[in-house]
Amino acid sequence: MSRRVFLLGGFNTPFIGKGHPDFVWKNHPDFGKRENPNLEEHLAAAVAGAFAATGVDVEKVDKGYIGNFVGELFCQQGHLGAALAGSYPGLAGKAMTRVEAACASGGLALASAIDAIRAGNDTVLVAGVEVQTTVSAREGADYLARASHYRRQRSIDDFTFPALFGRRTKAYREAFGVTEEDIGRVAVKAYANANKNPLAHMKAKKMDLATAGSVNDKNPCFLQNAEYSPYIKMSDCSQVSDGASACFVVSEEGLKAAGKTFADAIEIVGYGHSTASLYEDGDLTQLWTTKNAAAKAYKATGLAPGDIQVAEVHDCFTVTELLMIEALGFAAPGKGAELVRDGATNIDGRIPVNTGGGLVGFGHPVGATGVKQAVEIWKQMKGLSGGYQVPKTPSVGLTANMGGDDRTVMVTAFRNL
Ligand code: CAA
Repeated sequence: MSRRVFLLGGFNTPFIGKGHPDFVWKNHPDFGKRENPNLEEHLAAAVAGAFAATGVDVEKVDKGYIGNFVGELFCQQGHLGAALAGSYPGLAGKAMTRVEAACASGGLALASAIDAIRAGNDTVLVAGVEVQTTVSAREGADYLARASHYRRQRSIDDFTFPALFGRRTKAYREAFGVTEEDIGRVAVKAYANANKNPLAHMKAKKMDLATAGSVNDKNPCFLQNAEYSPYIKMSDCSQVSDGASACFVVSEEGLKAAGKTFADAIEIVGYGHSTASLYEDGDLTQLWTTKNAAAKAYKATGLAPGDIQVAEVHDCFTVTELLMIEALGFAAPGKGAELVRDGATNIDGRIPVNTGGGLVGFGHPVGATGVKQAVEIWKQMKGLSGGYQVPKTPSVGLTANMGGDDRTVMVTAFRNL
């Protein structure tokens, strides 16, 4: 019998970057007067926040995992296990490990912690961090392209990932007759949710359907790749964000050691992890690896798509949210847009998706995203989401974190006790 695993709680820093009111950039009144927080500062803030949110005694921490994709490129900093050990007094000397799986780095840091609890540990720290605003979006796109099969796919466009998902948008729209406006609704929901979330990158930016549903001056296409350019506008993209997240994963003993009860935590009922070959692309109209990871998660937990009451899914681009909700079984192939159009994925809908704004609205500091998704689900399931709280506290939640173009996926299911 496997040991039970709990998410005791955690903390997200604000996710910031261009478009966030506090982010210092060329025309900001603070330009030249103060710096934006660096990687160390974001990480330290998230870890301190996780200790404060959970009351865990640092003495009790057995080990820690940190998700980060390309600290070496954006920040000239690798060896982030040691950075985690330095992020909070008393962590030095503990067993700390960095986990890398592109944008699923955070999700796999969480998986590592779950495995560690099942293997006999009691209190495991999970963190994720990325700082990406040290270079322009175009230069950063080259760094992020390391999550694709670089030798084969880098040349698709300077903005490799937006182009890869422009390619998916084209294939998906052609296969199912989905309109540009249908896709635009995903962005409108993301920004509307972010506007209710004080930690969101896009908390202050409004997005209406007139802007998101068609190309216009405020919302241009920006790819050079002529075939895919019409399928990706600025509003379809996740943000280039800086930020960090951290949480504690514990056993029943770890829960007791922190002086907490089941009522303070959510149970991590199980997960599915699937990895596809980097060298092949597969069917562009579905997320095969996500489907596979979801099938594993449902099998491991005995849950079915209809049981899920709140979900955080990897909307690296608007089309990805539709493909995700189909791969997770919330909608049939090609029918994800209908769910969004009907309001079923809204905060007050039947299956609320990305209530804090998702990667498009909340932001996407890539190594932090998988951890942030788990913290968001914990907040929703404990009634802690403030202005974007789901009206009826959910008792079953799910996260789906993706690396690359559906190459690595981690799907995790949570239950309120
Ligand atoms: N018309 C045409 N082109 C325009 C334009 C206009 N009106 N305005 C801007 N552009 C072009 C410009 O060429 C500009 O590039 P340069 O300045 O280098 O010439 C380019 O668009 C970007 O403009 P900005 O730099 O002003 O835009 P920004 O900094 O606000 O960035 C964004 C906007 C490019 C959409 C950026 O947010 C972005 O790249 N988002 C996606 C991030 C991403 O790909 N993350 C990874 C997701 S994939 C995943 O999650 C899986 C994984 O493992 C990686």
